[in-house]
Amino acid sequence: MKSVKVFAPATVANLGCGFDVMGLAIDVPGDELMLSFNKDKKLIIKKITGDGGKLSYNAKKNTVTVAIQSMLDEMKMSQGFDVVLKKKMPLGSGLGSSAASSVAGVFAANVLLGKPFSKKELVPFAMAGEKVASGSAHADNVAPCLLGGIILIRSYEPLDIIQLPVPAKLYLVVVHPHVEVLTKDARAVLKKNIPLNTAVRQWGNTAAFTAGLFSNDMDLIGRSVEDHVAEPARAALIPHFHEVKNAALESGAIACSISGSGPSIFALCNGKNASGNISKAMKKVFTKNGIQSEVYISSVNKNGVRII
Ligand code: HSE
Repeated sequence: MKSVKVFAPATVANLGCGFDVMGLAIDVPGDELMLSFNKDKKLIIKKITGDGGKLSYNAKKNTVTVAIQSMLDEMKMSQGFDVVLKKKMPLGSGLGSSAASSVAGVFAANVLLGKPFSKKELVPFAMAGEKVASGSAHADNVAPCLLGGIILIRSYEPLDIIQLPVPAKLYLVVVHPHVEVLTKDARAVLKKNIPLNTAVRQWGNTAAFTAGLFSNDMDLIGRSVEDHVAEPARAALIPHFHEVKNAALESGAIACSISGSGPSIFALCNGKNASGNISKAMKKVFTKNGIQSEVYISSVNKNGVRII
């Protein structure tokens, strides 16, 4: 195999109660990447489309090549690759756009090199790419993008990644308003310390959310998606956030919060049938306020990145 084409899906990180420790993959949108061996012993970005000219062709600055380089460094290898990246999701959207590109790069390189690593072992390399893009090496986008499903990161040092069960009825509506929020900026508005009573509420919900997934209890899942840490600080970065959230809950969503660092907003739905009305109600708020938005309706993507 001289080249491979892969698809890496969008992800919803945090899931309300699990700041930096939880995330899930959805079916669409996602990035496509073609990786080919070259003889130059260099990582060369040949072409990027769909990014509006915003992404760097410098291999030391692009998330794809930084992620691949960290894998080659671990292998003490100087193999060259040509990269063609098709961004099929917006940057700064809260949909794990940079994570999808990092994951696509390391997954494709791993395939071409004969799979020296498992998908789980690729997580730290993809995190290195995520760090260049967002200033922080969190795994709550890259891990679900690689592995699929709903992921809990119990610990970063050492990395301990746990795959959680996916209730069959769980559907997501994700609405992306056309405003850009950079993860770096959305992290800068967070307080570095939180009061003990806030922490107590947050970890109560995180644990209960996990219990809800194991017991297939949609009510418990819904009432556990409460964020006392990031959402209160970040809501102001998203125009009409509270109105959109109310619209989602009033039209039947079991929960609603910010997707990753925003501005996308996700709603959890009990079954696919509920998702139509919920998505319409959420989009309507943006439309009536003159903000364009994209709507994605998806079940949880259980496979993650794949060859296409
Ligand atoms: N957990 C990260 C954050 C996800 O909320 O900053 C960024 O997509």
